[in-house]
Amino acid sequence: MQLAAIIVSLVLTVVGVALLARAIGQFVRYFKLGQPVPAGTRTDNPYQRSVTLVREFLGHTRMNRWGIVGFAHWFVAVGFLTLPPTIITAYGQLFEADWTLPVIGGFLPYELYIEFIAAMTTLGIITLMAIRLLNLPSRPGRKSRFAGSKMGQAYFVEYVILTIGLAIYVLRGLEGALHHVDHFEAAYFASYPLILAFKGLGLGTLQNLVYFTAMVKLGTTMIWMITVSLNTNMGVAWHRFLAFPNIWFKRNATGGTALGGLQPMTSGGKPIDFTDPGEDDVFGVSQVEQFSWKGLLDFSTCTECGRCQSQCPAWNTGKPLSPKLLIMSLRDHAHAKAPYLLAGGGKTMEGEEKASEEQLKDVPAAALAEAERPLIGTLEENGVIDPDVLWSCTTCGACVEQCPVDIEHVDHIVDMRRYQVMIESAFPSEAGTMLKNLEKKGNPWGWPRSSAWSGPRRSTSRSRSSAATSRTCPRSSTSTGSAAPEPWRTAPRRPPRPSPSCCTSRASSSRSWAATRSAPVTPPAAWATSRSSRSSAWRTSPR
Ligand code: HEM
Ligand code: SF4
Ligand code: SF4
Repeated sequence: MQLAAIIVSLVLTVVGVALLARAIGQFVRYFKLGQPVPAGTRTDNPYQRSVTLVREFLGHTRMNRWGIVGFAHWFVAVGFLTLPPTIITAYGQLFEADWTLPVIGGFLPYELYIEFIAAMTTLGIITLMAIRLLNLPSRPGRKSRFAGSKMGQAYFVEYVILTIGLAIYVLRGLEGALHHVDHFEAAYFASYPLILAFKGLGLGTLQNLVYFTAMVKLGTTMIWMITVSLNTNMGVAWHRFLAFPNIWFKRNATGGTALGGLQPMTSGGKPIDFTDPGEDDVFGVSQVEQFSWKGLLDFSTCTECGRCQSQCPAWNTGKPLSPKLLIMSLRDHAHAKAPYLLAGGGKTMEGEEKASEEQLKDVPAAALAEAERPLIGTLEENGVIDPDVLWSCTTCGACVEQCPVDIEHVDHIVDMRRYQVMIESAFPSEAGTMLKNLEKKGNPWGWPRSSAWSGPRRSTSRSRSSAATSRTCPRSSTSTGSAAPEPWRTAPRRPPRPSPSCCTSRASSSRSWAATRSAPVTPPAAWATSRSSRSSAWRTSPR
């Protein structure tokens, strides 16, 4: 028994550790595929970022909004981070059944802690399993927040933790029996019933049970390691590592969610200068690798918990959009396409392949096929995100507000829309009238210029708008209205009417960059301006 346990455990360990090291390397190369972010935006105030991370993790501040789930998860997560000494003990027990850790092995506070945290981790995962089973996606309609989540992967992760938790207890009970614990001791306060159960077994039997249980514990850990290493898109497993950097690099160092004014439109990590855009500037996102590395990190971190989905007004009113499924689709696509990109693959703006045949010769066929999928496209076009999904978003921000791992859905959705509008001139037909009104009448409703802003209330709005626009012309924005200075963003709910001179120069400057890309100009520019000001007005109002 002992020899078999040693061989099985060590072989699985070698394979598991090697694959995990490979997976970590893959992740590093994968994140490097993303675009840089503007300097300092994700690393400013490192002390405050660390405080935010500790607060969000130890306090489970965002998880605890959902009561018992957060409480149960806290013990599972803390157990995972603090139970590694039990892994070392299990390796020792493979060779010597009554082996304990030097120095702390028999130290009462350590033993109390292990008994307590292992019990709570086991109870915690049982609670999470029960919650998942009570919310099965088979529930009618869209009620289950797990609808569309990869349930098999979640069950796997749950059963692994349950098995490891129980194995720790059995080993503690066997340890107590081997050490002849014959009355209740605080050091075995949780595992004492097991000691009683093992009482009377012979030494050889107890030793064999130790070898076997240690093998089960280590083998389960390593099978988990092998499985997640071979599935780098397994968010429910990988978030336990990735959630930490994702929270640390969140947009606001102080912990605020990534809401408010939209981010400037950037290309290669630099805000685009719309008065004189660079020849190689990329407008928005049309390929998954055009997201920033933080975007790729966001996608990989999703736990598929469905909180965003459960709060999404689009999902709850029967629209095709679920923020969770959108993030999952982007993640799965990015991971599937990664081997092609890492081999140097990619498409120029004209759609030509950048890599040579030689470079792509070892790329798996599945990755090459994935690379051919348009990021935005219908089912017939084999698109990753359907245009109907993309345009169903109201940019309300409820998903961002909810997400416990701080994924920034709205920014990603807006980036994809920016490309669609500015380069493809593709947007819902309903927006056409509004864009035309904006262009011709200066307001989205088509009110005549003379009367649109008349009347006591309207003139108040206008004077406030004019004040705002005259103080900070949107042209000074680094992107098409999206990074306008504060007065512009906090302008009244109705989009302010830009001054004529401002409009003229906006249109002409837009034309200068758009001409190089042969895309219609004025509607997109107007659209982007109106959306960003409207969105920020919505988002600054209380929810
Ligand atoms: C800042 C760190 C972390 C955050 C924000 C986080 C967040 C989450 C969220 C939101 C879920 C979905 C739970 C639900 O709503 O049903 C989840 C699930 C889970 N997390 Fe974490 N997590 C973190 C760290 C960890 C760590 C370190 C572990 C270590 C084991 C872990 C293990 C799990 C497991 C096993 C599940 C699946 C539970 C289920 O199936 O319902 N998490 N996590
Ligand atoms: S911002 Fe969009 S995706 Fe997120 S909850 Fe609102 S409508 Fe849904
Ligand atoms: S995006 Fe966030 S809230 Fe939505 S399923 Fe993923 S982890 Fe949960």
